[in-house]
Amino acid sequence: MKNILLGFVLIFLLIQLIQPARNIDYGQVPSTDISKVYKLPKNVQSILTNSCYDCHSNSTHYPFYSYIQPLSYYLEKHIKKGKEELNFNEWSSYSRRKQVNKLNSIANQIQQKKMPLTSYTYLHPEAKLSEKQIEEMVRWAEQMQAENEK
Ligand code: HEC
Repeated sequence: MKNILLGFVLIFLLIQLIQPARNIDYGQVPSTDISKVYKLPKNVQSILTNSCYDCHSNSTHYPFYSYIQPLSYYLEKHIKKGKEELNFNEWSSYSRRKQVNKLNSIANQIQQKKMPLTSYTYLHPEAKLSEKQIEEMVRWAEQMQAENEK
């Protein structure tokens, strides 16, 4: 029994040595960022920054526990996947059609409360969107979508 426990402790300590590359870009807001393409209303800008950029940009703010394995591995997987699907830092490199699709998807995901991910808001309660914020974001995304479809 003691040996099994010791084995677990040892494995836990060993996996701490495996740390994934971090999603940190110390530069300025890139010129391809969505905020450089559209004139974002203040509330939209702050929602994106506070609730979405950790997974949908090239720069994540890492909390201390994000350095603890296997949590670190789990978080990095989400960031990688989220960024692949949608990266607000690279908005202007998307085709017009892709932008319209993404705006549509943003409205849907937020309306269905799928974004920000629950596993994230559990640890970041301040990133959770209020009903008012959901409404504002959905309205904004739909409006941008309509403007870009013209
Ligand atoms: C904890 C990381 C995380 C946060 C925070 C987060 N997302 Fe996501 N997002 C993901 C992941 C991972 C996916 C990939 C699909 C999935 O696993 O559900 C995704 C997918 C999406 C998609 C689908 C893209 C497509 O092509 O259809 C949209 C839109 C989206 N997120 C918007 C947002 C918005 C808007 C916010 C902020 C309100 C946000 N996300 C916050 C991780 C995150």
